[in-house]
Amino acid sequence: FQVPAVDNEPMYNYAPGSPERRKLQDALVEMRSQMPFEVPCIVNGEKIFTKDTLNQPLPFDHKTTLASFHNADKNLVEKAIEGALKAKPAWEAMPYNDRAAIFLKAADLLAHKYRYKVMAATMLGQGKNAWQAEIDAAAELADFWRFNTQYATDIYSQQPTKNAPLTWNRMEYRALEGFVVAYSPFNFTAIGGNLVGAPVLMGNVCIWKPSPTGLYSSYLVYEILKEAGLPDGVIQFVPGDAHVVTDATFEHPEFAGFHFTGSTHVFKHLWQRIGNNINTYKSYPRIVGETGGKNMHFLHKSADAKHAALQTVRSAFEYNGQKCSACSRVYVPDNLWEEYKTELVAQTKQIKQGPVDDFTNFMSSVINKQSFDKIKGYLSDIASGKTPNSSILVGGKCDDSVGYTIEPTVVLATDPKAKTMVDELFGPVVTVYVYPADKYEEYLEIADKTSAYALTCGLFAQDREAVIVGSNKLRNAAGNFYINDKSTGAVVGQQAFGGGRASGTNDKAGSSLNLLRWVSPRTIKESF
Ligand code: SER
Repeated sequence: FQVPAVDNEPMYNYAPGSPERRKLQDALVEMRSQMPFEVPCIVNGEKIFTKDTLNQPLPFDHKTTLASFHNADKNLVEKAIEGALKAKPAWEAMPYNDRAAIFLKAADLLAHKYRYKVMAATMLGQGKNAWQAEIDAAAELADFWRFNTQYATDIYSQQPTKNAPLTWNRMEYRALEGFVVAYSPFNFTAIGGNLVGAPVLMGNVCIWKPSPTGLYSSYLVYEILKEAGLPDGVIQFVPGDAHVVTDATFEHPEFAGFHFTGSTHVFKHLWQRIGNNINTYKSYPRIVGETGGKNMHFLHKSADAKHAALQTVRSAFEYNGQKCSACSRVYVPDNLWEEYKTELVAQTKQIKQGPVDDFTNFMSSVINKQSFDKIKGYLSDIASGKTPNSSILVGGKCDDSVGYTIEPTVVLATDPKAKTMVDELFGPVVTVYVYPADKYEEYLEIADKTSAYALTCGLFAQDREAVIVGSNKLRNAAGNFYINDKSTGAVVGQQAFGGGRASGTNDKAGSSLNLLRWVSPRTIKESF
């Protein structure tokens, strides 16, 4: 079988006066006129209003509610598991072409029918500007669904090439036995679509717990998959308290896999929980996670300082510094410091911040109070001198009276191990350390050892030898490595995404490596 050749979803530029901008603005106005939405749990295709509700506010205007959603209790999660297991035989027996057709149709529905609605939900609920929402909720989500069908086709066609006389060897790529659990984050609508989409495409059924702060857009993603033909029960949409969902799913003998994007701390805790329950399970569960980051830009003395500064501003501050790939520490050689600093400061000061429906705003606010308080704590300690070897070069103001707003902030550190060079803040704060230009290799080693994470890295150098040295020294420091480019912006089908160390299991979202985790192959030898 073959699926159609796929390509990246074309992106619009939302130029002033363009029809796309008008359509998106209309969608925002319409969404604002209808909110708050009421979001149910969906189990076996049935909408269930549990009455145990929580609100999803707008991060940049937290007194306004986008959606009120109903949390599942333990009984409902158990019912969801039971229903998913019942739906499974028919789903995995469905010919692959038909499973693929559902995802290809979902991608087209998203791109052509629901694009502006899902973008508006991502903008209002998660605080993305139009361009960031386009990258995520339109392009990346459609790309995940489309490219996965291509990767799955590649996997299914990998068959033994040798057959002894009177035999025929085959490989059957079965789904895992049991059910898969997906916990999705707030920061990318597309990630939720892939956390459930990848295992389900391979014939699995999935219990989906979306993030409360990304809830409404996740619900729309579910609805699109349903409209595209996903049978009831194959994905069970169960918002809920993490403890409740975890208690029900992780204690079940048919728990077969966990697909997670979120914090390192939570992932490690859940991994331990799975380990403690190992005798409960029929099979060893597959555990796939993308977790934290402390991503760096590293400049060699031959780098184009202005270009590197601009890339730093984009990587550190686009989407309010809340991409897992965002740059949050920079190593600058002293010969480039003045030029780099001038550009970095000028660009940072120009950033306009505010509500996302004003298209002149580049940034809005961080996702919630917890995140705001954490970042504010770090910045106050620096401002008051409590944190040694650190000072604020630009920004630093925090105000949560209307939204959870943190100014784009550059911290200057005089110790490469200063607190904000090491810890993940997950917000619009980047820390810069200036190193002696002739100690390139020494500081590459320091950068490699400074943080526990290894997700993304941008290396900036014009000198080819420096590129080779940097690339080798930082070999294990990032799963996504960029040369003369920013650390963010991986595109499905072009740069598969994921990192190692405390950043995750590096099973590369948007690749056949990820899809392989959701199959349990059976080798078949038939003798004639
Ligand atoms: N894939 C995104 C990026 O590369 C992060 O999740 O920026």
